[in-house]
Amino acid sequence: MIRARGLTRTFKRGKDVVEAVKGIDVDVAEGELVAFLGPNGAGKSTTLRMLTSLLSPTAGSAQVAGYDVVAHPAQVRARLGFIGQGNGGGFSYKVRDELHNQGRFYGLAPDVYKRRAADLVDALELTGLEKRSVQSLSGGQRRRLDVALGLMNHPPLLFLDEPTTGLDPHSRANLWEHIAAMRERYGMTVVLTTHYLDEADSMAERVVVIDHGEIIADAAPDVLKREYADDVLTLDVAGDEATVRGALPPDLGEVAVTPRDGGLRVRVATARGADRLPGAIEALRLAGATTTSASVKQASLDDVFLNLTGRSLREEAAA
Ligand SMILES: Nc1ncnc2c1ncn2[C@@H]1O[C@H](COP(=O)(O)OP(=O)(O)O)[C@@H](O)[C@H]1O
Ligand SMILES: [Mg+2]
Repeated sequence: MIRARGLTRTFKRGKDVVEAVKGIDVDVAEGELVAFLGPNGAGKSTTLRMLTSLLSPTAGSAQVAGYDVVAHPAQVRARLGFIGQGNGGGFSYKVRDELHNQGRFYGLAPDVYKRRAADLVDALELTGLEKRSVQSLSGGQRRRLDVALGLMNHPPLLFLDEPTTGLDPHSRANLWEHIAAMRERYGMTVVLTTHYLDEADSMAERVVVIDHGEIIADAAPDVLKREYADDVLTLDVAGDEATVRGALPPDLGEVAVTPRDGGLRVRVATARGADRLPGAIEALRLAGATTTSASVKQASLDDVFLNLTGRSLREEAAA
């Protein structure tokens, strides 16, 4: 569905040149749901605007839905839905009018757009809101309407730029569920952007991490966490420090031991923490040290981002 090579965009700002996107290579297969994750200013919107033919690349190329974005922008646009950052439809219109207008915009016959609007109202939980003005909707309802508007022409490829920004966690999860359901229902490929680590982690099948205009990692969240960050094992052990240190396998990772409640608290940073925990407990037991409690803290995508960039995306987002 998407094949981009060396995709680059610079902007002139006064005398300065801003390198918004610095030569990214990315492929998206048909049917995938891919999230571009990165902090503000990383180049997510610029990338999406190039892939949707709204902005021409300074260098590099992209084929989207089989067409070159520069040579055939009209063919590209006919095959995609694009929901930009902070859309929201016309304020004074009613929900159903917005959907019907969108259908007319795509040149659909009235019976077709009316049927599609009714289907999408149903599928995106907008039932009962058809006659409400867009203005009166909640943030979550409004974003679901945006998704419905993006789907009126049944595009094989849907782009959403920060669809969940500003929504509360419940509405964010709800919107993701709807996006996933729409993808199943219409067999769409979906590319979206987010700066929320937790939702990229829990919802996306594939995360493309972008920072300063470059792709710095591209894989499933679990793979990213396994490759770029350690889990942390915490064990409370009855025994002495020398025995504990001697018993744990040398390849396990960095071991920190501190006294706690008459015993020891042992922390180990290690890959595949859940897989390594039973072996660690057994090794301690054989050496005569009893484990009284144990837990695994899985690495997060923030740990991944921190290890890749030296910065915390969570703290940047909060700031
Ligand atoms: N039209 C523009 N003119 C000048 N600079 C721009 C323009 N659009 C984006 N930029 C700059 O390019 C960089 C990437 O922006 P953007 O793609 O919007 O990032 P993101 O969507 O990840 O927050 C930022 O430094 C931004 O200020
Ligand atoms: Mg943006």
